[in-house]
This record gives sequence, C-alpha cells and structure tokens, in this order.
Amino acid sequence: MLRWCCLIWTQILFGGMRGIYDVEHFIKSLRYDVRIVRSLPEISSNGKTKKMKSYQIRPPRDAPLSWYTTFALEMMKQHGAIYLTPFSHRLAEEIDNPELQRLRCRVNYHALRFKPHIMQISSEIVNKLRAQGHFMSIHLRFEMDMLAFAGCIDIFTPEEQKILIKYRKENFAEKELVYRERRLIGKCPLTPEEVGLILRSMGFDNSTRIYLASGELFGGERFMKPFREMFPHLENHSSVGPEKLEENARGLAGSAVDYMVCLLSDIFVPTYDGPSNFANNLMGHRLYYGFRTIIQPDRKALAPIFVDREEGRGSGFEERVRQVMYRTNFGGPHKRVRPESFYTNSWPECFCQPESKNPKDKCPPENVVEVLGSQLQSEESEGSEEGKDANQAAATGRAEEEGST
Ligand SMILES: *[C@@H]1O[C@H](CO)[C@@H](O)[C@H](O)[C@H]1NC(C)=O
Ligand SMILES: *[C@@H]1O[C@H](CO)[C@@H](O)[C@H](O)[C@H]1NC(C)=O
Repeated sequence: MLRWCCLIWTQILFGGMRGIYDVEHFIKSLRYDVRIVRSLPEISSNGKTKKMKSYQIRPPRDAPLSWYTTFALEMMKQHGAIYLTPFSHRLAEEIDNPELQRLRCRVNYHALRFKPHIMQISSEIVNKLRAQGHFMSIHLRFEMDMLAFAGCIDIFTPEEQKILIKYRKENFAEKELVYRERRLIGKCPLTPEEVGLILRSMGFDNSTRIYLASGELFGGERFMKPFREMFPHLENHSSVGPEKLEENARGLAGSAVDYMVCLLSDIFVPTYDGPSNFANNLMGHRLYYGFRTIIQPDRKALAPIFVDREEGRGSGFEERVRQVMYRTNFGGPHKRVRPESFYTNSWPECFCQPESKNPKDKCPPENVVEVLGSQLQSEESEGSEEGKDANQAAATGRAEEEGST
C-alpha cells in the first residue's frame, strides 16, 4: 500500500503553506511515513510525454478509513493521481487505528514547523519575557467574527450591534439567537473583564505578567480597560516583538508568533473553545509537549455565577468561581471523552507506554532514526524497479520548482 501513497498532490501544502511553514522540514520529517513530491510527474504514452493529470474527488466529511483504502485507492490506481478537495475534516477524528492517529501527531507536532525567522522571533520574545520570570499567555477571542457567530451582542452599543448583525447575516446561516440563553449554555466568548475576574479569583494578582494573543478586540479599549486595571503587566507581539513583524505577510506571521509564544508560555488560557483552531491546536500541542498547564474556563458552569454578580447577587463570587475552576484538569493527562477532540487531546494514542503488552504501543528504541533509516533504505532497494518512476518524479519536481521560483 505504501507505494500507492507516494504521490501526494498538495497544492495547499506548497502554495499557501510556503509563507509561514518550513516546507523542507515537513518533507524530511515525514520521510519514513510518506514520500512527498512537489509536482506531478510527466508520463509518456505513444512516444509523447505529458504532465500527469490528477483526478478530482470530493471526500465525504468525516469519512471512515475504509473510504480511503477502498474507493480513493482504487481511483488512484486508475488515474495515477487523485486530488482530494476540500480536505479539512475529511477523515473521521476517531479512527480505530492508533498508528494512523500517531501519524497525525507526527504531522501536527513534528512535521509542521514555522519558518526559521518566525521561530527566531518567537524565541526572542519568550526569552525576553522569561528573563523576568514566569508568564502567562491568553488567547482572547473577543473578535468580531466570533461574537457575530456566537450571537452574543447585547453587551454592545446599538452601532456595534448593527455591525455584528450585518456580519452575521452576510457570513452565517440565519438562526434566532437570544443572548441570555446563549450565554447560559456557555456559548459566548468570555469578555476580557470576565477572564480577569476568573484569574483574580484563582489568586493571580496584579504582578502577573501576561502575553495577549488576539486579533483586533471588538469594542476596543472600553472592554480592555477593566482587564488592564486588574493586570497591568500586559504584553503582545507588537510591544515585545521586533517592528518588522507588523508588515509581514497578511498577518499570518503575527499569528504564527502568537502561537509559538502561547505554546512556550508557562500557563495558557484559552477563552473560547468553539471553532477556534488556534486555541484548540494549542491545547493539543501543549498537552503533547508534556502536559503544560492550561487554565480552561468552563464557561457553562461559570455563566450563572457571572449573571448573579451582574444582578447584584455577588456574595461568595470568588469562592464559587474557584469551585468551578478546581474541577477542571489544567491540561493534565486525562482520557479523551466525546465531544473532546483528538486535536485537543491525543492521549493516549500519541503517548508511548514503556510497560505495554501491545508492542505497537511501546516506546521506540533510542536509535529510532537509524532503525527507520535502514528500513527505508532496504525498502527502496527492494522496490527499486517500481520506485524508479516516483524517484524520477521527485527529481523532476525539484527541478521545476527551482526553475519557477
Ligand atoms: C497592585 O496591588 C497592590 C494592592 O493590592 C497595590 O498596592 C499596587 O499599587 C498594585 N500595583 C499596580 C502596578 O497596580
Ligand atoms: C499591543 O499593545 C500595545 C501597547 O499596550 C497596544 O497599543 C496595541 O494596540 C496592542 N496591539 C494589539 C494587536 O493588540
């Protein structure tokens, strides 16, 4: 089967990805899993050579593994190459194959790496912050798109509400959303003030140093002010980072730096766990890299406490918040329970087990790279006849790539 997997047609990978990801590293670190080529090979028939065409297929959402090993594989054999599009959420999250789940972790946490200059800026920021002690990072998802999506608009001025309603109409399916109901079921992003109140209740004081990762906060300074009063030691990538970052590619570099700083911070606080890939991936990534502390507010459990406080029933507020927060797991190891996503918690699949009865779950040997290297070599020499085309394709691809850039 491996031989058929050798061609990956990745417009996305080498197109959109080139800007912020280290493509060389990606290809190299997955070499024991898949062979990645940069363009489709030329094929010759009747003495003419032409570029191989890929056959476009639309994978079903959350397709089972069997869809790929039967239908997609069959199409690949027939056409030589297939182009799967769209591609996000096209393989079910829960699949009964631990090795493939581990492959997902190899891709997400090892192969995907930002370009050297982004890693460099991020580590400069982290070193600067850490030179003064521990620091916390917060992903404030208090942005227009998220607020409009969640339908949490009552706290805004009539003009701001108009903007949100308009954005909602233009971008999301129509749905009646009642603020109070949405909030009580935990669907509203936390306001900066609420985040501050939670941290205060947990005992963080005004000396806490905080790195803020966020896009443009909706409603502006009015919402930041109460937070800033509680936690004056605030930084972001503009305040500690180099100036040149600002001008960078479509704001992606800024988000990439934010991601790395959040990954490396001592504590990470996501404030919204809905469709936010940024926070979800970070949670999974921090868990994978040694269960790094996460403070994840349980918005649903906290909502009635906030509502009580606003309506004048504020006694015992901090104690109630603490009780809710101490029931959370702070990013520690815990078995994934639906609807928790594999991307936020890859335990246990992606963690090796020294004592496991199943050899597949055991930890790899110290010299794992050598072992894999010699396996790959012997595979390549065995399949050298069949492998020839693919090798040649890779070589041609590289030449084209160099020619075109
Ligand atoms: C921090 O809080 C203490 C009292 O709790 C206060 O005396 C001090 O001025 C505050 N520091 C800042 C920087 O706000
Ligand atoms: C970063 O912080 C500075 C100074 O506190 C502030 O003026 C600026 O608006 C912040 N930038 C972002 C993107 O939040």
